[in-house]
Amino acid sequence: MVKIAVMGHGVVGSGVVEVLMKNHEGIERRAKEEIQVKYILDLRDFPDLPYADKFVKDVNIILNDPEVEIVVECMGGVNPAFDFCMNSLKAGKSVVTSNKELVAARGQELLEVAKAKNLNFLFEASVGGGIPIIRPLAQCMAANEIDAVAGILNGTTNFILTKMITENMPFDEALQLAQNLGYAEKNPTADVDGHDACRKICILASLVLGKHVYPNDVYVEGIRNITLEDVRYADKFNAAIKLIGLFKVMPDGKLLINVAPRFVSKTSPLAGVSDVFNAICVIGDATDEVMFYGKGAGKLPTASAVVADVIDCVKHRVARKYLYWAPAEEGMIADYHDEPCSMYLRLCGKSSDELKNIANELCRECIFTEGINPDEIAIITDVATYAEQENIAKKFLARGVNVISAMRTLSR
Ligand code: HSE
Repeated sequence: MVKIAVMGHGVVGSGVVEVLMKNHEGIERRAKEEIQVKYILDLRDFPDLPYADKFVKDVNIILNDPEVEIVVECMGGVNPAFDFCMNSLKAGKSVVTSNKELVAARGQELLEVAKAKNLNFLFEASVGGGIPIIRPLAQCMAANEIDAVAGILNGTTNFILTKMITENMPFDEALQLAQNLGYAEKNPTADVDGHDACRKICILASLVLGKHVYPNDVYVEGIRNITLEDVRYADKFNAAIKLIGLFKVMPDGKLLINVAPRFVSKTSPLAGVSDVFNAICVIGDATDEVMFYGKGAGKLPTASAVVADVIDCVKHRVARKYLYWAPAEEGMIADYHDEPCSMYLRLCGKSSDELKNIANELCRECIFTEGINPDEIAIITDVATYAEQENIAKKFLARGVNVISAMRTLSR
């Protein structure tokens, strides 16, 4: 029998206990050992639960108990989760976490200690909730050079955008609905301003690159400024607006990584990913495009990934599961201005004929659509670096044209 402790009895932690109890027999068969929750760490009391006797408030009870071999951290946030995970590893216990903020901020230090002590530090649930993505990237696609990853990594923003697209619902109303349904983080800033997606793309990039990519080094834009007019223009260009976490290896070997809303062509499977669903598209040099799709948030989908990691820990008690990345290196991240992309621009301030003439002068080639208001047009510019695109926008301004909206498109 393997005894584990669960730290945090919130949405994910309670889901982990529920899945372990509900699927007890199958899990034991697959792990080839019985898995028993010995302790649950939480500052709150849950006297009515059938397993109320397992709750403890002092982390040292877990750290000092040699019977506990695996610690499952579902508390969220960097502190005190980092200390609890680090001290668990130092006490000789493998650690499983669903905590993306922790892994993105301090995963390297934890992986280093896990490696030194021949323990597992696993975090499948930290990206994409119930979608298998860490293991496929680290194992199933290990024969590939990964050229690019593009993902819809935040369920809340995808839900909001879906409501805006399909029900013409304004942003604020859609956010309120997402909060009422319990999708958003406690502070929805992390969702709507792109930080949650950033942490997730950083974890995937660190795994692929083999070096820690820190969220603070990544350019991030959220979805707050997207209007229903932008949504309508996207539709006119046969695209849908999605918040995309993206990384690509540039020809000089640097990593281009950012989070931003983009026009995604409806010919891409990512455009059809709706509601709280997440999807991650990985381009390997041998596999070409592979897509992972499913529920990126929620109690049981996330718990499913956590428990799978616990099973993996049990199966890898002697030879640890090899998951590792090295410290970050100076200069490994490309400047976001270097990204080649085409842009959607919404232009006004002159007659539509004048706007078209100016656009034809300033852009090498661009695609037009008629304005949804008089004296307005929208264009998709030709591919150029983001720095060049910013220059084009400045030239429009110098010619008396207002650029009401600008957004990158997603290209392969
Ligand atoms: N707030 C997150 C989301 C939860 O909406 O995707 C899952 O990480």
